[in-house]
Amino acid sequence: MTDKRLMRVLSGERMDPPPLWIMRQAGRYLPEYWEVRGKAKDFLDFCYTPDLAFEAAMQPLRRFDLDAAIVFSDILVLPDALGRKVWFVQGEGPRLEPLLDQEIWDFGDPDRVVGHLAPVYETLSRLRASLDPKVSLIGFAGAPWTVATYMLQGQGGDKDRCRLAAYRRPADVDALLAALVEATARHLAAQVDAGADCLQIFESWSEGLPEPLFERMILNPTKALMARLRALGVTAPVIGFPRGAGPHIGRYARETGITALGVDTQTPAAFARAQAPAGMPLQGNLDPQALIAGGAALETEARAVIEAFKGSPHILNLGHGITPQCPIAHVEALVRLVKG
Ligand code: CP3
Repeated sequence: MTDKRLMRVLSGERMDPPPLWIMRQAGRYLPEYWEVRGKAKDFLDFCYTPDLAFEAAMQPLRRFDLDAAIVFSDILVLPDALGRKVWFVQGEGPRLEPLLDQEIWDFGDPDRVVGHLAPVYETLSRLRASLDPKVSLIGFAGAPWTVATYMLQGQGGDKDRCRLAAYRRPADVDALLAALVEATARHLAAQVDAGADCLQIFESWSEGLPEPLFERMILNPTKALMARLRALGVTAPVIGFPRGAGPHIGRYARETGITALGVDTQTPAAFARAQAPAGMPLQGNLDPQALIAGGAALETEARAVIEAFKGSPHILNLGHGITPQCPIAHVEALVRLVKG
């Protein structure tokens, strides 16, 4: 029996109080983040410098009694590792050379991935060695479709052009997803080898897909990714987080092979429980805006979330990532409210 509360919930146990971590818990809402960030040449250099990435991942754990650390990296290290050009514009976000502007698509080389991302694995082993044994270590990657949307249009934002490409250039889009399945499986397996206890797949752009496209862009690639991961010998539990999937979460939970379902802000706990296989662990789904609001609103909403998820093995988290304007005192208040 493990001491790690998060891992116990991932194996199907219900715990009171629920284990807690916060998506995007390392980052810009912490003043000490900016200090380490300033030591790196740019954001990718930050992710690839184990001294700095270790520090950024540890910062929230030093402040708050959280049940998990997540390695400091990004979902877009994967296209970078494949050899695509990736850069981050301060205050705006990620930029890539858009495949949609190109006649012939070069996805890069999956054989480069694990070598290129060695510094991320080094960060994981250092975290593994330093963390309190009760704290779980999470590795992660973006899901194939989510990473593909950035590769296709070169940035975030409206996904209409990506859906259009899925209809207009089906063979190319399917080949891109297949390449990402292989590269992502290798990246996730290497994170477990380096010491991750469990994994999260961020499918941040699940919304707005009609069912046939949801099948093609999300269900099938995630199913293939899970199968490939298991074929590589990885037994670690996997949290799938299909943000915005709405009516499709049941198929996602039942058909992909994930261990636990990340529930986004808009999805009722009872709906998620009814849609997921019996006893599947659920993670979520406090509104990040309630955390920013703090005070009575935070207290009411956090208690309501805990109550609503009581019938399932539950990991308390936000329904999407914490944002830079979130007051630190409100995170402290949340931890106090949960853990007493
Ligand atoms: O504690 C952690 O979770 C840190 C590790 C982490 C980062 N990004 C660091 C980061 C994780 C798990 C991510 C996931 C990620 N990255 C997602 C999925 C989750 C989600 O929010 O939907 C996505 C879509 C990205 C892509 C990405 N990276 C964007 C859109 C941006 C721009 C700004 C933002 O935060 O949305 C980034 C940059 C980024 N990734 C920062 C951090 C701390 C900010 C970089 C800076 O210091 O300027």
